[in-house]
Amino acid sequence: MSRKIIVFDTTLRDGEQVPGAKLNIKQKIEIAQQLKRLNVDIIEAGFPASSEGDFKAVQEIARTVGDSAAVTALARAVKSDIDAVYESVRAAQNPLIHIVLGTSNIHVEKKFNRSKEAVLQMGVDAVKYAKTLLPEVQYSTEDASRSDFEYLWSTIEAVVKAGATMINVPDTVGYAVPEEFGDLVRRINERLKNLNDRVVLSVHCHNDLGLATSNTLSAVYNGAEKIECTINGLGERAGNASLEEVVMALNVRAHYYNCHTDINTKELLRTSRLVSHLTGLDVQVNKAITGENAFAHSSGIHQDGLLKDKQVYEIMAPEEVGAESMELILTARSGRHAFKNAVRKMGFDTSDEDDFERLFGKFLALADAKKEVYDHDIFYLVTAHRTMDAADKQLFELTSFQVVTNDLSPTATVELRRGGDVLKGSSIGDGPIDALYSAIKSLAGLDVQLKDYKINSLSRGKEAIGRVNIRIEHEDRTYSGRAMDTDIMKASANAFVNAINAVLLDSTTGPV
Ligand code: KIV
Ligand code: ZN
Repeated sequence: MSRKIIVFDTTLRDGEQVPGAKLNIKQKIEIAQQLKRLNVDIIEAGFPASSEGDFKAVQEIARTVGDSAAVTALARAVKSDIDAVYESVRAAQNPLIHIVLGTSNIHVEKKFNRSKEAVLQMGVDAVKYAKTLLPEVQYSTEDASRSDFEYLWSTIEAVVKAGATMINVPDTVGYAVPEEFGDLVRRINERLKNLNDRVVLSVHCHNDLGLATSNTLSAVYNGAEKIECTINGLGERAGNASLEEVVMALNVRAHYYNCHTDINTKELLRTSRLVSHLTGLDVQVNKAITGENAFAHSSGIHQDGLLKDKQVYEIMAPEEVGAESMELILTARSGRHAFKNAVRKMGFDTSDEDDFERLFGKFLALADAKKEVYDHDIFYLVTAHRTMDAADKQLFELTSFQVVTNDLSPTATVELRRGGDVLKGSSIGDGPIDALYSAIKSLAGLDVQLKDYKINSLSRGKEAIGRVNIRIEHEDRTYSGRAMDTDIMKASANAFVNAINAVLLDSTTGPV
């Protein structure tokens, strides 16, 4: 019988650790709601002991999506971290405490500077304490793939006896290779099932050698029952195993692995785009499953073969991952009903009438400017609307601007609103964007440095939408801002304002 593999998504914890991928609470909830539509089994919503802001985000996620997905958050093996996880996830129907503690010699000696026995005891005490709070406790043996096997096993045995219900084996630094990692998982699994066959064996792979997906699949082949992944493979350094890749490999090669997941694969592309949009981190064009070229066939020989039979060059249909081949093109005359249908088809909620009316107004403005509105445009319109509309009234909003460009002194005049205050000012710069950003910066009164500016065209149609991604630095921390518009100057200005708002949100919720 096909084994069910539990999918644990850590986009909001390991994924959010990526520099510049900082999300505000509304954005995290938006992603969590999409993860619910994707039907992941467990959502790791954050690291609540790290800041008040992260604590609140985990709590809100447990309240909003904890009716279907299990919700967890990360704790080090200390009481205060475990308390923070418990308090933040307890509103979910299936809350879980996730504890992490290193098992490799390098972690024990360098990180903790304690004996192996003392570190093992810390883990046991942490699990015993967590069990007084919740029945479900996951224990991660950090850096498992570089650990001495017998010490790793003694730790697993001791924490299972203390009550851990899930054992997670991380390849924390992406050092493992598939055969060796599969072998490690098989050896642990044999002993674990003899010890307690109800304990779930899980893996968590990093991509430092580009092997996270392969290592995860090798672990599944060798008995792992749960996989930890992120959307778009986000995560520390080179990232984590990409959820869409592992899930589709298990789906397309179901007979080989004799396994399945409950993921709604038709939501994969949408989830990938949402995460990319909200984090500002682009998906490479040739990325498996969700890259722009993942289903594009350019060579004449391939196109000819496909016309004869799709299976000649396609191992999965684009529709299976949500890349619909039929798309409806809307115009300003399409009306409310058609627009609402298109928004719903993408999985967005339209039940709040007032909110929908505001969104429809934005659609009409876009349709006037762009003439033909594609699925792609609607997706970005809705996600941008949700993000902006949810924003705190104390954030900056661009109300008007003018840019004069020439080769002597490019000048920008900007009007911003913040709450009831209207701020207006002008600046000159080396170029129009420099002038625009200087004006916004001095009105906002924040000392930020532009680190990166990127613009690309986002969609088809006579008037394409430009999307601007920027990164700024403020007090050694990086913040992202994104915006889209048919006017690239306006998109550039809004991206900068959004990045400044990210700084403000961070300082009101505290650093993560
Ligand atoms: O990479 C790692 O070891 C982790 C643990 C918290 C599972 O992220
Ligand atoms: Zn990790």
